[in-house]
Amino acid sequence: MPNFYITTPIYYPSDNLHLGHCYTTVAADAFARYKRLRGFNVLFLTGTDEHGQKIEVKAVAAGKTPKEYVDEIVANIKELWDNLNVSFDRFIRTTDDYHVKSVQLIFRKLYESGDIYKGNYVGKYCRPCESFFSEYQLINSNCPDCGREVIDFSEEAYFFRLSKYQQQLKDFFGNNPDFISPNSRATEMFKNFMEIGLSDICVSRTSIKWGIPVDFDPEHIVYVWIDALANYISALGFENTQYSDFASFWPCDLHLVGKEIMRFHTIIWPALLLALGLELPKKVFGHGWLLFGDDKMSKSKGNVVEPLQLCKRFGVDAIRYFLLREMPFGEDGVFSMPVLIARINTDLANDLGNLVSRVTAMVFKYFNGVLPKTQQEECVLREVCVSATESFAHFMDEFNPPRAIAEVWKIIVAANRYVDESAPWALAKESGNPKLSGTLLNLLEAIRIISVLISPIIPESAKKIQKQLNLQQDLYSWVSIKTFGLISTPQQINTGVALFPRIDVAQGGY
Ligand code: ME8
Ligand code: MG
Repeated sequence: MPNFYITTPIYYPSDNLHLGHCYTTVAADAFARYKRLRGFNVLFLTGTDEHGQKIEVKAVAAGKTPKEYVDEIVANIKELWDNLNVSFDRFIRTTDDYHVKSVQLIFRKLYESGDIYKGNYVGKYCRPCESFFSEYQLINSNCPDCGREVIDFSEEAYFFRLSKYQQQLKDFFGNNPDFISPNSRATEMFKNFMEIGLSDICVSRTSIKWGIPVDFDPEHIVYVWIDALANYISALGFENTQYSDFASFWPCDLHLVGKEIMRFHTIIWPALLLALGLELPKKVFGHGWLLFGDDKMSKSKGNVVEPLQLCKRFGVDAIRYFLLREMPFGEDGVFSMPVLIARINTDLANDLGNLVSRVTAMVFKYFNGVLPKTQQEECVLREVCVSATESFAHFMDEFNPPRAIAEVWKIIVAANRYVDESAPWALAKESGNPKLSGTLLNLLEAIRIISVLISPIIPESAKKIQKQLNLQQDLYSWVSIKTFGLISTPQQINTGVALFPRIDVAQGGY
């Protein structure tokens, strides 16, 4: 079985997370589930990035130690992922002992090889992003990542020789055109950073206490981004004894990250890996932002949507579906209640929910829930299912959920049309017409294939549908859905509840 290593960024537990944060994790979860479905041995990593000034300040304000402060929020984050059915295999906290040890050893190694050296830092610093910039990187004198104000800064510090890796990185990008996805982000990275030329970066701080000390010079705290990026290898057991998966899972298959942290993942992280003599990740995908109106959803802008409340109100799968369907992959998407509700009522309730409920209801109405021994009828759905399954795989392999989902909806729409056109209620008037059971069998077959394809997207609903179909587990495998016509009859099905209740806006839907 081939391995597949996929990561999300590790989240800052400085506040509870909002719906925008859920995008990265839910998308990563969909990919992890899809790869498992395709037979990969998946390692899906997520976690929390717990050090740094932002958290230090918050903890003081809350009258807690930083660790007490983050413990509480990390518990909330885990609860949120649990709620959203995020099937991570490993959760790393940068306060975990093994990670701390790895970071210290990595820092020491780079110091000993000369890639880290001591100097004096003079430059600009963005507090919210915890990022250092040189003058020419600023946009309108502000932080190029978030647009906020930066401050002057000078202190004794360690530096990483990023400049030394300029040419190697350039060659690597040239030889691996798919490393940065989507393509527009690669262009961005080149224009904004590579063409200007890379300068060495400051990788330690003395003014911060909450972080990992450099073990041979403990006045200095390891810069939070070095600490954070190292999670991707410390979580595999690099320079620690907690895990031993490095040989089998590195290099990483996919780092999925938001666009504002692409520079760290496509330039600094690869340079660090080169300095450590390690292989580079296969792909970094930079997704867009979930906007609220025109603005990025973020706590500091006061426009956050609370994900647990949304899940409670509309159902977990409705939220997952919205995120994966509505965000054009790689670009920004907009959250609004009317759009969410339209997606629920149209795509989920009218199209998918209605298909499942009307077909299963007819099996009950005409056959008491047991579809009798039936000959397969030739029908249009065969071709639709086979081709949509192929295209679904193609788009998921490109990490493009909206396009993949649209393929599944081609089956759903075709199946609903097939119901209307074959009119089983009319067939039922001629008693014993074999076309009735043949038609329903085709529809069950389409629903079987749909249930497997949507399982990475809306896993809970997929499971409910599969329970209703009551088929053997092997009919829900990836290989099985390549063939239309595998359900053998007689087949007993189960009753189910409405998958997606319609949201009645007039009744105070929100
Ligand atoms: O950046 N829309 O953590 P983080 C879409 N600790 N995605 C969003 C978003 C929005 N409105 N707001 C946040 C960090 N995200 C670092 C990472 S990795 C070595 C260190 C996404 O908690 C964001 O793009 O600020 C990122 O992918 C993730 O949430 C974590 O962001
Ligand atoms: Mg951020």
